[in-house]
Amino acid sequence: MCGIVGYVGKKDVLPVLLGGLGKLEYRGYDSAGVAFVKDGQMKVIKAKGRLSNLREKLGDVVAEDTIGIGHTRWATHGEPSDINAHPHTNTAGDIAVVHNGIIENFSKLKNWLISKGIHFVSETDTEVVAHLVNYMYEGDLKSAVMKTIKMLEGSYALGVITLKEPDRIVAARKDSPLVIGIGKDENLIASDFPAILEYTKDVYLLDDGEVAEITADNIEIYDVLGNRVHKEPFTIDWDVSQAEKGGWEHFMIKEIHEQPVAMHDTLMARMRDGKIDLSEINVTEEYINDIEGIHIVACGSAYHAGILGKYVIENIARIPVSVDVASEFRYRMPSPLLSKKDLFIVISQSGETADTIAALREAQSKGAKVIAITNVKGSTISREADFTMHTQAGLEIAVATSKGYTTQCLCLYMIGAEIARMRGEMSQEEYDRFVKDLQKIPDLMKMVLDKKEEIQHLASMRFGDVNEFFIGRGIDYALMMEGSLKLKELSYIHSETYAAGELKHGPIALIEDNTLVMALATQKPLIEKVISNIKEVKARGAYVVAMTQDRYREQFEKDSDLVLTVPDIDDLFAPLLAVLPYQLYGYYTAVFKGCDVDKPRNLAKSVTVE
Ligand code: F6R
Repeated sequence: MCGIVGYVGKKDVLPVLLGGLGKLEYRGYDSAGVAFVKDGQMKVIKAKGRLSNLREKLGDVVAEDTIGIGHTRWATHGEPSDINAHPHTNTAGDIAVVHNGIIENFSKLKNWLISKGIHFVSETDTEVVAHLVNYMYEGDLKSAVMKTIKMLEGSYALGVITLKEPDRIVAARKDSPLVIGIGKDENLIASDFPAILEYTKDVYLLDDGEVAEITADNIEIYDVLGNRVHKEPFTIDWDVSQAEKGGWEHFMIKEIHEQPVAMHDTLMARMRDGKIDLSEINVTEEYINDIEGIHIVACGSAYHAGILGKYVIENIARIPVSVDVASEFRYRMPSPLLSKKDLFIVISQSGETADTIAALREAQSKGAKVIAITNVKGSTISREADFTMHTQAGLEIAVATSKGYTTQCLCLYMIGAEIARMRGEMSQEEYDRFVKDLQKIPDLMKMVLDKKEEIQHLASMRFGDVNEFFIGRGIDYALMMEGSLKLKELSYIHSETYAAGELKHGPIALIEDNTLVMALATQKPLIEKVISNIKEVKARGAYVVAMTQDRYREQFEKDSDLVLTVPDIDDLFAPLLAVLPYQLYGYYTAVFKGCDVDKPRNLAKSVTVE
């Protein structure tokens, strides 16, 4: 959802901006631009398309200056084009603005500015900000930005520079992420950590409504009323190497292979004396015994993790779990139903997803205590939730999630086990076995990844498909939602997930000769049922790829065209292994089709608009 970066210091600014934008391209990549000062003039250079187009346009331009701002765009207002790309300027071209977010009242502001004789050149909402800052400017950029944001409705992370005060960047934030990197004789702003990791790991996290004035050797932060705010720096615990491909062809395949370590780290961060220690979410036994239900709210793959979590928690803790897509939950009419006796959980890899943040705030406004599962320390969700469980997936750069999703699932297994233990739904023996099984997952994942050639071969045969089906029952159905999404978003092949028993109620009409049906069946009590569903689609000409655990393989051989297996484990944990072949399948299919695997079309990693 757009990436912004800004630098003020002693270095030549262009390589810093372009390097930072490269690290933020996962946030948006339909156009990019930079603004910097050269020969006493504001230079603004923008190009439609990938950052490489901007690099090409810049050629061997040297900024010869040490202050600038840059932007990589995911279009909201106006098609991707050179003109709509950021930075945007006022008419005189001496104020430049980069923006992430949506100015909801931009039409009204634009009409007002037009009535004052101001001419607009782009279709964007952001251009109003540049003209407003100019309109408000009376010799102090910070004051002009402060007056401007008072007029804005919607969300924004802003970086603003002006020729008139060429030693400072003014930044502001509301409902869109923005961090300030604290350097030595240099300071930076960025939408996300990767853009600044090369220069510093110390940051200030701006809060909503705050404005920062940043020079090379000073950072001042102000609240909405203009009072100075004292903030403690936050130290990022990621390494710059995590933002590099490290020999892999894509971040996606690198991150798929990082899952054993991510799962190990997420688990071991909570294991104490053979028990899962969830003191970080601070729920007392008394509180857990009192709850009547659990609400999970999230978007995309995090929502899929929530559905999988529902099956796990209901299975072991015997408590009802409802799962909602955040954008639906927040607009439930007239308002979402929440009981004080419900535990509320939000899940978000980035911790910045606008709809999930809104759902969290909605739940809190109704008096609920919110537990967040997120991967990004210091993110909005991590800071606003009452309790946060951080996954230890490490930096995830590929737009499609892999290790983010599996570590979210793992957290839900842990939460489920703790609730089951506290409510007396699990005996000590069952609990110990559960914990032992969880600890086996990282090594078993490695074994699954070792068989990746098998999946690569399947992808090489099927990458021409236009339509595929992913079916399963129970927890396998939950997993297939994620399997299908991976294929869709990475390779652009249309794929549908269906509860296996539901196919015959309509969608089976789409099965033709050679239609690929991926059938997942890892749960012993459901195997015969899934085999019946496999027979139904086989009878209509489908090509069936079944996946099960090693010990159930034989049962599938007669009716399936291909049987894939994951190593044996207690049924409840098998989906955690089964997701890997589907991630690999989406990946290799996309590679064979020549798709841009790390940055699929139309997508952005951090969805900071609703
Ligand atoms: C799919 C994917 C998205 C995200 C969704 C929520 O591969 O990555 O569906 O899961 O946009 O993002 P977070 O978890 O950051 O809230």
